[in-house]
Amino acid sequence: MVIPIVSLKGGVGKSTISMNLSDMLADYDKTIVIDTDQQNSIASLLCKRFKKGFSELIIGEATLNEVVQKAFDDGKLYFIPTGHYAITHPIEFEDSITEEKLIKIFKELEKDFKYIILDTPPRISKHVKSLLNISDFFIVVISPDPASVASLKIFLDYLKKERLDNKFSIIVNNLEPNEVSEDIYAFIQAITQNNIIGTLPKDVSVLESEANCTTVRRYDKESGFVHYLEDIVKKLLKIL
Ligand SMILES: Nc1ncnc2c1ncn2[C@@H]1O[C@H](COP(=O)(O)OP(=O)(O)OP(=O)(O)O)[C@@H](O)[C@H]1O
Ligand SMILES: [Mg+2]
Repeated sequence: MVIPIVSLKGGVGKSTISMNLSDMLADYDKTIVIDTDQQNSIASLLCKRFKKGFSELIIGEATLNEVVQKAFDDGKLYFIPTGHYAITHPIEFEDSITEEKLIKIFKELEKDFKYIILDTPPRISKHVKSLLNISDFFIVVISPDPASVASLKIFLDYLKKERLDNKFSIIVNNLEPNEVSEDIYAFIQAITQNNIIGTLPKDVSVLESEANCTTVRRYDKESGFVHYLEDIVKKLLKIL
């Protein structure tokens, strides 16, 4: 199961959700989170060192054994960092991603992992389109602010045009208990025909967990963020 986490607008919570969703899915089955964004957020969130990663796999300069790392001492979560090549050669890295190479890498990984979660850069590009094309299902992340909603409309039109609008669901992240947030949420429901798998509250435990190089539920399993994300995971498992 290959599941990219995507958005057109940056900073809406893709990396946070990729990391935390993967940690929860790993309770159900062996899971790997792959960073395909040159911002390298996943290794940063885990405070892990790396050299080779996804970008070296793509250019054929690493094997899976060299790039797959365990996320935590316990559990069934693994990760692949973005890799140095993506950082030093961001344009060449994105240009060298093809659906053929992705399918080959994910086929190999699927022998070992049930869930393959992909963190992605915030844009529509050949890179992201290839990931969407070869995915089994994908998640679009949005925050309840006007700029994010504007970008969602553009993204939804694009997905429709590319006939990719039959295999995704939306997570509304950073929801706050105020009127503006609630109004924007209602608007998102309307323009997406309520294709919302769940919401996540703006929660200080997200930043605190990141500062502690861990996931939110490992840091504070009673937090609102964890409660809502557990609900999303249950719904997602029913869809997959
Ligand atoms: N629900 C939340 N509550 C509080 N803070 C959050 C929440 N979700 C994300 N954040 C914070 O918002 C910031 C941006 O999140 P994140 O890096 O996951 O976004 P992104 O979509 O991956 O960004 P980019 O598009 O740049 O890759 C981070 O500092 C993260 O800690
Ligand atoms: Mg990110």
